[in-house]
Amino acid sequence: MDDGSVVAVAPSIDPPAGATVLDASGCLVTPGLVDLHVHLRQPGGEEAETVETGSRGAALGGFTAVVAMPNTTPAQDDVEVIRAVRRWAAEADLCDVHPSAAITVGRAGERLVDFVALHAAGVRIFTDDGNEVADAALMRAAFEACLPLPGAVLGQHAECASLVCDGHLHEGAVSAALGLGGRPAAAEEITVARDLALLRLTGGRLHVLHASCATTAALVRAAKAEGLRVTMEVTPQHLVLTDAACAAGDPTFKVNPPLRPGSDVDALRLALADGTVDAIATDHAPHAPHTKARPFADAPPGMLGLETAVGVALTTVVGGGHASLETVLGALSWRPARIAGMTDQGRPVAPGEPANLCVIDPEARWKVDAAMMASRSRNSPFAGWDLRGRVRHTLRRGEPVVLDGTAQR
Ligand code: DOR
Repeated sequence: MDDGSVVAVAPSIDPPAGATVLDASGCLVTPGLVDLHVHLRQPGGEEAETVETGSRGAALGGFTAVVAMPNTTPAQDDVEVIRAVRRWAAEADLCDVHPSAAITVGRAGERLVDFVALHAAGVRIFTDDGNEVADAALMRAAFEACLPLPGAVLGQHAECASLVCDGHLHEGAVSAALGLGGRPAAAEEITVARDLALLRLTGGRLHVLHASCATTAALVRAAKAEGLRVTMEVTPQHLVLTDAACAAGDPTFKVNPPLRPGSDVDALRLALADGTVDAIATDHAPHAPHTKARPFADAPPGMLGLETAVGVALTTVVGGGHASLETVLGALSWRPARIAGMTDQGRPVAPGEPANLCVIDPEARWKVDAAMMASRSRNSPFAGWDLRGRVRHTLRRGEPVVLDGTAQR
């Protein structure tokens, strides 16, 4: 590696004098991972995470670039907040952080942001994540406003707000047994179907965030076949866990959209395997321990994901025979990089390419210990899991930011 680029790829290389030599024996060397969906909480939520602690978790998880969600306080809805997030990321210097911006001012669903100014400041992904944009006319106007802006894409948190407002988990047998209000899968289906109709109307570009149910996979598959400009992501948790995990009322398993029954998990795995799913995104959503200690109905939704994504995906998705290693790595790297227009990420491991790299030991066995995580929060649904496959090194423009599983700052 030289000047942050790959110089040569060969079975054996004589290192020049003074070069740092990393042990990658038995490892996969892949393009650095790209996460389209993380909550870094700064500004306003520093009790749960900061751009620095989230960047460290990202690097430990093999990610060389992440997209930061805008549900901060204040929201990432103007250029000043975007610049502040970039500044904190540059200070941490562990991972590329691309702040997304809200679609509506304050994520309040009433008035569109200044897309032109935010795009000129480098924003490509716009989303009110945490909330859907409920007003169809406003969403139509947002698609139209983004049409002239190269690379701009609208990310939708697809849960019909009026159907989920009293819900805490998937509406079904488990929510009934707990006596809690549910969030029906139909809420997601309705918003995805509406947005696809708006794409047909406007010619806009849509990215469906954290898809959770079979109907979304079917709708997106058909929309792609029709030629609409739509992409979708799933999280590791929605590929692995079902709503049965909520049966004991543990708020660690509370997330929006909620964990669904096994039939939805199966459909999402099939959609990953056949390419309908473009990206695996973590929806890393840290919450301070005292907030997740509340009763299920009062606890905030969200799960940690950055430091476990590779292990969970390799162990359960690849190891379970649900999708190939190449499909999973593509969904964790080069396909999301393209969605976000990151030209220096997700590139082939080849001479002249930027050395944003992730070195994974596919055989490493480890137990998830939430107490050891870089995150300021501890809400991992995978705590205590035995995983196979772990990130050993992460290189950012040629510099090791994680060496032998240890962050370098
Ligand atoms: O579970 C969730 N938590 N879903 C979201 O969309 C937002 C996120 C958060 O910010 O905690």
